[in-house]
Amino acid sequence: MPADLSVTFTGLRFENPFMLASAPPTESESNILRAFDAGWGGVVTKTIGLHPVMNVKGPKTKFNRLDVDSPRISMQKRAAGKSVLHSSWNWELISDKPLDWWVPRLGRIKQAHPGKMLIASIMAGSGSDKEYKNWQSLAKACQDEKVDGLELNFSCPHMDRDDMGSNVGRNRQLCREVTQVVKEVSRVPVWVKLTPSTTQITVEAYGAFEGKADAVTSTNTFPSLPPIDPETLEFEMNVDGKVSYGGLGGPAILPLSLAKMAQLTQEFPDKAFSGVGGIAEFSHALMYMLLGCGTVQVCTAAMLDSAVGPNVVKQLIQGMGEFIEKNAHRGWKRLEDFRGLRRNAIVPHSQIKRPDGSEYHGGHEYEGYAGDAPANSAS
Ligand SMILES: Cc1cc2nc3c(=O)[nH]c(=O)nc-3n(C[C@H](O)[C@H](O)[C@H](O)COP(=O)(O)O)c2cc1C
Repeated sequence: MPADLSVTFTGLRFENPFMLASAPPTESESNILRAFDAGWGGVVTKTIGLHPVMNVKGPKTKFNRLDVDSPRISMQKRAAGKSVLHSSWNWELISDKPLDWWVPRLGRIKQAHPGKMLIASIMAGSGSDKEYKNWQSLAKACQDEKVDGLELNFSCPHMDRDDMGSNVGRNRQLCREVTQVVKEVSRVPVWVKLTPSTTQITVEAYGAFEGKADAVTSTNTFPSLPPIDPETLEFEMNVDGKVSYGGLGGPAILPLSLAKMAQLTQEFPDKAFSGVGGIAEFSHALMYMLLGCGTVQVCTAAMLDSAVGPNVVKQLIQGMGEFIEKNAHRGWKRLEDFRGLRRNAIVPHSQIKRPDGSEYHGGHEYEGYAGDAPANSAS
């Protein structure tokens, strides 16, 4: 009998915990339908807003790659087998399609796949009644089309408006207020996607949970710049020589996103979390699950796999099935049996065991990592 991959997350039943994150893979009806056919348990739509959106001229996303035989990092194409993926870099805004475009499509998608979870990502401004009404209009319009949940985007890293995106996600009070106004009208679970671009992400999570968020999603991309070409001295991604801060995603951010997630799940062990950042195969998803996540989301890896990740999701499903089977002797049958298992392995540095005095060879014996280290020292 195949392993049971189903999960109940914020009261919603997912056939598996694997979701496409809000991004190009979920920017259209056809993509989302293909994603569901491919096996994803749920999707978060590309973020829908009410303000007009115009993207920059030229490409919105590129991929940083490392040479296999040198430390060079570049967006430039290399011959097959000569480079490995480091990260995605994007400065794409939220959906440039208006709410009117999305509304009938949300309804149609849900009708075609009633068993799959459709979460609408939404975004408006903050700090004024007008903007709070905008959040409520977006929430009502999407839930009227029978979406299963809402994800509030407090995390877009490239916003010029002070009252939007990651600027909300850096402010506990705004996180609370916006969540509250959406919760006033919502009949479906409300997830809050926080920005990683903050010192202590738990502070803003408190705001979201004070506003009665049902879950927190983390992370969005990390603020970053493209590499500079050493020959042309231009940023590898620019428009007329100019660049702006964009978002880093993919393999490079997995350890960073895990750290954010660990802070969240340790502070709120009983709350629901959806993990995002650098996931491309089940071993990555497992890391988030072991920290306490009940669902995980994928963007960069799916973009590079026929736009919606048919092979990625196949591996995720197969990997989780095999993992459960392999651990059946421990009595594990489903995600709940191993979720959060490593959450408490993270402790303050001072609580990490030190060697006995006689074993200790640190300090002044040799000069840093460049010198000849004693044979038993860490590499
Ligand atoms: C091109 C691009 C567009 C994105 N657009 C959105 C968006 O509209 N809303 C949102 O919440 N996150 C957006 N994201 C962030 C992703 O949902 C995800 O959080 C991030 O890419 C980290 O996951 P990854 O490492 O799997 O790419 C976007 C990411 C990329 C690369």
